[in-house]
Amino acid sequence: MKITYRKAVTEKDKVLLVPFYSDLENVPEAYREWLKARLKSGDLTGKKDSHVTFYPGSSIEPGRIVFYCFGDLEEASSRRVRATLAKAVKLLRKHVMPELSIVFNNRFLQFPREIGEALALANYNQAIYKTGRDKREAEEKMIKKIFIISSEIDRVQKFEIDEGVKVGLAVNEVRDLVNSPHNFVDVETLSARAEKICAENKIKITVLDRKELEKLKMGALLAVNNGSNHPAKLVVMEYLPLGRRQDPIVLVGKGVTFDTGGVNIKPTQGLSEMHMDMAGAAAVLGVFMLLRDLDIRQNVIGLLPLTDNAVDACSQKPSDVITSFCGKTIEVGNTDAEGRLILCDAISYAIKKYKPSAVIDIATLTGACMVALGDQIAGMWGNNVQMKERMKNAALETDEEVWEMPIHEIHREGMKGKFADLNNIDGDTSGLAGACTAAAFIENFVEHTDWIHLDIAGPAMPKKPKEVDFPGASGFGVRLLTRFLQNIK
Ligand code: BES
Ligand code: MN
Ligand code: ZN
Repeated sequence: MKITYRKAVTEKDKVLLVPFYSDLENVPEAYREWLKARLKSGDLTGKKDSHVTFYPGSSIEPGRIVFYCFGDLEEASSRRVRATLAKAVKLLRKHVMPELSIVFNNRFLQFPREIGEALALANYNQAIYKTGRDKREAEEKMIKKIFIISSEIDRVQKFEIDEGVKVGLAVNEVRDLVNSPHNFVDVETLSARAEKICAENKIKITVLDRKELEKLKMGALLAVNNGSNHPAKLVVMEYLPLGRRQDPIVLVGKGVTFDTGGVNIKPTQGLSEMHMDMAGAAAVLGVFMLLRDLDIRQNVIGLLPLTDNAVDACSQKPSDVITSFCGKTIEVGNTDAEGRLILCDAISYAIKKYKPSAVIDIATLTGACMVALGDQIAGMWGNNVQMKERMKNAALETDEEVWEMPIHEIHREGMKGKFADLNNIDGDTSGLAGACTAAAFIENFVEHTDWIHLDIAGPAMPKKPKEVDFPGASGFGVRLLTRFLQNIK
């Protein structure tokens, strides 16, 4: 998808999209009367998402002009512009659409990043595993070239639109990863992908294999991996533009490439979606696709603990006692609470090796978080008020919503082990508050480091996609974490 800027509409423009607000102010003079008549006749309600197409005539270009209403100007917001533009582009993509021209005036150019994000996010190809005619048709409906037409656009606005496009394209790659089934994305392919991304972006990467993890005594990650024939890996990515001048921020993404539940096996219902259990790792990878390109001036480490959670004669058993990397012992009350086991070792490793200024983990961790907040909003826990406020701001700006959740003493109590130091499930609260007790478990490993935990079990793959999304994976977290890093002063 290539973006080009033009000052005015010409006969080169084949299909023209004209976004407007209910007052019709920015509709080009030549069409305003025509549009008013459409309002009068009732062809157009003049409310958000109402739209109408004008066909100027057989031999005249643009051959089709689509007027799309963004609602009242007073209600304009970054969320509204991103979501509505995405809807408009998706509508146009029902037709074969190699080129699209869009007229933006200053009212819309207040939201350049959102424009860029919407254009890329709405131009996602869902048909990567189709062949033949379905594949061809899906490809024909991809927009190859977008012309942005504005007489008043400035350099900064162009730059920010281009930046938004880059972010959106990274999100699309993450969607592909998360949508891919396990026989396409497993430990090996995911770590190979991380190596490719780092090579392309000149980012240092080390992939620790099972042997090295054994030497390091990462007992919790290894225990989850016991039942698998894909040896666990820990991907370590180092983006250090400030060298030794700054302690890094560490991003840890849960990379369970398929979660059967292990011996505490999951029921059939929902099982086939469990290839998405690496959405946290994929989101961190998405951020690493962007760090260099967006010239983010922060030292950032990315850690991806990778394994599947399989059922096998060698699988860990409920009641096993394992020793984590930091030395704390854990009773495996339930093998399906595997995410926290792989996260805790990665977090301890991060703290020991990098002395980070902050750790953020992102994980499809609990069904309970979905019960609490629905499947569009991520749960957020953390130990630093200012850091959480900054995350909330990034969430508002990117429309990747988070809601702050608590850890109470009762949750901490529940995670204590009977025989070992900890249990990976809550014995006391009988499964209630499962998202909070999971956070309480992880808290045991963050020591005094500033920390945020994001549970994205719902928004990684919501049942009802948002305006910018498609059925399946959303790529949640890429926009949120990237903006969080960009906003640090
Ligand atoms: N990967 C799941 C959580 C999940 C559920 C993600 C649905 C996406 C959609 C996680 O590993 C899990 O199984 N969690 C258990 C924890 C329980 C055993 C304490 C859960 O939520 O039931
Ligand atoms: Mn599980
Ligand atoms: Zn899981």
